Amino acid sequence: MACKSEKGKIAIIGSGLIGQSWAAIFVGAGYNVTVYDIDDKQIEKALANMTKSLKSYETQGCLRGNLSAEEQSKLITGSHDIKACMENAIYVQECVPESIEMKKSVFGELDKYCTKDMVIASSSSCINSSQFTENLNHKTNMLIAHPVNPPYFLPLVEIIPAPWTATEITNRTRQLMEEIGQAPITLKKEVPGFALNRIQYAVINECWSLYKNGVLSAEDIDKVMYEGLGRRYAFIGPLETMHLNADGIKDYCKKYAEGMQKVSSTFTPPPIEYDAATADNIQEELTNIVPADQTQTRKEWRDERLAQLDKLKRNK
Ligand SMILES: NC(=O)c1ccc[n+]([C@@H]2O[C@H](COP(=O)([O-])OP(=O)(O)OC[C@H]3O[C@@H](n4cnc5c(N)ncnc54)[C@H](O)[C@@H]3O)[C@@H](O)[C@H]2O)c1
Ligand SMILES: *[C@@H]1O[C@H](CO)[C@@H](O)[C@H](O)[C@H]1NC(C)=O
Ligand SMILES: *[C@@H]1O[C@H](CO)[C@@H](O)[C@H](O)[C@H]1NC(C)=O
Ligand SMILES: *[C@@H]1O[C@H](CO)[C@@H](O)[C@H](O)[C@H]1NC(C)=O
Ligand SMILES: *[C@@H]1O[C@H](CO)[C@@H](O)[C@H](O)[C@H]1NC(C)=O
Ligand SMILES: *[C@@H]1O[C@H](CO)[C@@H](O)[C@H](O)[C@H]1NC(C)=O
Repeated sequence: MACKSEKGKIAIIGSGLIGQSWAAIFVGAGYNVTVYDIDDKQIEKALANMTKSLKSYETQGCLRGNLSAEEQSKLITGSHDIKACMENAIYVQECVPESIEMKKSVFGELDKYCTKDMVIASSSSCINSSQFTENLNHKTNMLIAHPVNPPYFLPLVEIIPAPWTATEITNRTRQLMEEIGQAPITLKKEVPGFALNRIQYAVINECWSLYKNGVLSAEDIDKVMYEGLGRRYAFIGPLETMHLNADGIKDYCKKYAEGMQKVSSTFTPPPIEYDAATADNIQEELTNIVPADQTQTRKEWRDERLAQLDKLKRNK
């Protein structure tokens, strides 16, 4: 069935792992996508790989949207010119490598072709946009939209406006993310590590301490997450867990706060030292579980399991 897409154009700057993921997500929602990369050969590689990925999602039954993989592939074009890539785009997603110098130079370029209504979002994992947009003409149109790998199956997007980002731009980004099937959260201000990594690092720090103090093996530490907490957290967060595990969160605090504080007072205060000896020991244990020559297979297995979980969650 011919289904002409006229939903608007999205520009993707940088066609590596994350750029390709964003493109697949946007075409799933019926948008036209133009992909730019500084490396001409990479654009061709990316186009071929995206066609392959969309086809494989279709075969696995996890392709998004109503269009076939072939129709979705046709919505993606490559461009060797950044200006042409951005022309008439409603939204630009920057996906170049994580370095402040790189972000500064690319955003300087994007600023030249930004129009009044365009949103320009960076995929940056940990650099505040205020560190590279401050002196630009269109800084009110710019912000962070940080995806989680693999974005096609882990829909969280952290939206972090700089202090000067227009509220309307932040809101529009959030609406667009909802519309394309991602799950946006909006940080009200910039903090180091944004939300996901702050919470992730708190977890990692405690795992490290439990290992270093000889309480658990590496395997058993990971099991706490994937057989315990992780399963719960795939459906409800830690705050709602408290709410449901008592008669509301206030009741939970009344009942358990004292015990929690006692336990928490035994935590090693940050910064934790990720010492080489502990890293060596964990590495050895993990290599027994996942041998070095099997990490790629294991990554594919992980993404396939995440695809199944995503299916379950989308069907509700
Ligand atoms: N990989 C992850 O797990 C992950 C998760 C969330 C966010 N991010 C963020 O996404 C961004 C991209 O990461 P990635 O993993 O896709 O990197 P990548 O190395 O796979 O891709 C980067 C691409 O950018 C291109 N590039 C380099 N300089 C450029 C320029 N000046 N203009 C246009 N293109 C240019 C490169 O040729 C390459 O194709 C980073 O900011 C990263 O922190 C990554
Ligand atoms: C191709 O896409 C897959 C996701 O489907 C990704 O894991 C892989 O890294 C990509 N390969 C290249 C060369 O970009
Ligand atoms: C798919 O089609 C249904 C019914 O027409 C529509 O409600 C939905 O928004 C479409 N989904 C996408 C991603 O285009
Ligand atoms: C969007 O992509 C379709 C399919 O390639 C094409 O027919 C259409 O002209 C494109 N629209 C725009 C605005 O580029
Ligand atoms: C942005 O969204 C917030 C929260 O939904 C709302 O209170 C505010 O009025 C919106 N602002 C603009 C400018 O759209
Ligand atoms: C990001 O900005 C916040 C607030 O301006 C600041 O506290 C933090 O240190 C910045 N993060 C980084 C990595 O510089």
